[in-house]
Amino acid sequence: MDFSIKAFDTKNTLATAKTGVVAVAVFENKKLSAAAKTLDSAGEISAALKSGDISGKAGSTLLLRAVKGAAAERVLLVGLGSEETAGEKNFAAGVAAAIKVFATLGANDAIIALPLAEVKERDVNWAIRCVVQAGHEAAYRTDGQKSKKDPAAAGVKKLALAVPNNAATKLALAQAVAIANGMDLTKDLGNLSPNICTPTYLANTAKKLGKDYKFDVEILDRKQLEALKMNSFLSVTNGSEQPPKFIIIKHMGGKPKDAPVVLVGKGITFDSGGISLKAGPGMDEMKYDMGGAASVLGTFRAIGEMNLKLNVIGVIASCENMPSGRATKPGDIVTSMNGLTIEILNTDAEGRLVLCDALTYAERFNPAAVVDIATLTGACIVALGHHNSGLFTRHDAAHDKLAAELLEAGQDAGDTAWRLPIGELYNEQLKSNFADLANIGSPGGASCTAAAFLENFTRKYTWAHLDIAGTAWKSGGAKGSTGRPVPLLANFLIKRA
Ligand code: BES
Ligand code: MN
Ligand code: ZN
Repeated sequence: MDFSIKAFDTKNTLATAKTGVVAVAVFENKKLSAAAKTLDSAGEISAALKSGDISGKAGSTLLLRAVKGAAAERVLLVGLGSEETAGEKNFAAGVAAAIKVFATLGANDAIIALPLAEVKERDVNWAIRCVVQAGHEAAYRTDGQKSKKDPAAAGVKKLALAVPNNAATKLALAQAVAIANGMDLTKDLGNLSPNICTPTYLANTAKKLGKDYKFDVEILDRKQLEALKMNSFLSVTNGSEQPPKFIIIKHMGGKPKDAPVVLVGKGITFDSGGISLKAGPGMDEMKYDMGGAASVLGTFRAIGEMNLKLNVIGVIASCENMPSGRATKPGDIVTSMNGLTIEILNTDAEGRLVLCDALTYAERFNPAAVVDIATLTGACIVALGHHNSGLFTRHDAAHDKLAAELLEAGQDAGDTAWRLPIGELYNEQLKSNFADLANIGSPGGASCTAAAFLENFTRKYTWAHLDIAGTAWKSGGAKGSTGRPVPLLANFLIKRA
C-alpha cells in the first residue's frame, strides 16, 4: 500500500477530491465530524445517521455511494464512539474498520479523513503510525510458502491521509512507513519455516540489508567463535547439523566518536529443547525462537530507511537447539567467553547460553547502552500474557532511566513493555555446586532468574533485557509473527537520535 499526505483547505476541499472512497468520522450521539459535514450538503450523511443504519460506535461502518456532496465515488462513514472521549482505542478501532472495508472495495485509492489530529492524549504522529500499521497488517500475507497463493484481495492500493502537510507530518509518515516495513521483515522471518529460516538464512538476510542500506555486516562462523572462546554459545549448537552464525550489523549514522546503542538478538532458528526435549504439541511454534534476531533485523531495515542519525550496532547469535549423540547434556559444564563457568542443568534454557556470549562480545563497542531482545521464557507469557514484553534492568539510577526510556518508547508506539525485577534473590537461585552459575533456577520466577543470569554478563555497560516470548507471536487460528517489538525499538532509537 502506498501512503501519502493530502491537506485540504477552503479552496482545495475534501468535497471536491476525486477518489475511490473517502472515510469520515461520525459519533455515537448522531453527530458528524467536521469533515463529514463538508460532504453533507445534500443531507445524505445526516439522513443515514438518523435512519439508524450506523450506530456511531467505535469501529461501526456504513458505505454510501453517489453522495451528492462529494466528488468521491464512495463515502465510508466510520464510527468513533463518543466525541468527548474518542481516544486511541476508538481511533484504532475506527482505523482498523475503515482499512478492512477498503480492502474489500473495487476502488484503487482512498482518503482517510478521520480527525487524526484530535485523538485524545495522542498526537497526529501517533495517528499516522496507527493508519500505516493497520494498512500493512491488512495487506500482510502468510502464503509465501503455499503453492497456490491466497486470492489477491481487491482493495485500495493508494491511501492518502487527510492531515496538514508540513515537515512534522511528512517526517511522521516516513517514519511510520519505515517502521511498518521493518515489522514486515520481522514477520516474514518469524513465519518462515525453520528448514528455510536457518542461521545461514538470517546471516544472508543481514548481508542483503547491508547491501540495501549500506550497513557494515560481518558474519562469524564456528572457527572464529571458537577462537573467541564462545563456548557457551557453541554448546547450544552441538546437536545441530546447521552451522552457527554470529552476525554483526552496523549503522553508523551518528558522529564517528559517539558511543553506539547495541541491540543483541536471540536467534535460535528452532528450539526443540535439545536433550531436555520439549513436548510435541505446539513445538512447530519454536521456529519463532529467533524473534529477537528478527526484531533486530527489522529495526535495522527501519533505521536504514529513515537513515537515522545515530550509531546502532546489531549483534545476533544464531543456531539451532537440537538433540543428538553430540548434543550438550544436562550436567555439562562450559566456560563462557567472559570466563564464568556454567553448569547446564536444562538444555532447554539455551537462550541465555547464546546471549551471554553475545553480551560479552558487545563490550568491545563501548556501548552507550545495550538492549537484548529474546523469546527467553514461557514464564513471561504466564506473567504478562501477549500484551506486554517483559523489561528487565538493574535497579539503580542509570538503569531506571534507561528503563523509563524504553517503557515510554513502547507506550508511544503502542508496543508496550512492563518492568519486572532482577537482583540478589534471583541470583541466589542460580548457584551451582560445581560451576560459577547454573543455567536454571528453582521453579518460580523463571523470567526473572533468566534475566538475572544474563545480568552477570552485562556489568561493563548500561543494559536492558526485553523478554518477547509473549509479544512476538500470536498462537491460535491466525497464528504468526507480530512484528513486535520493532515499533518499541525503532521509537527508542528515533528518540535517541
Ligand atoms: N524459547 C523458549 C521460551 C519460550 C517458550 C518462548 C514458549 C516462547 C514460547 C526458551 O528457550 C525455553 O525453553 N525456556 C524454558 C526455560 C526453562 C527451562 C527454565 C521455558 O520457558 O520453559
Ligand atoms: Mn528453550
Ligand atoms: Zn528458546
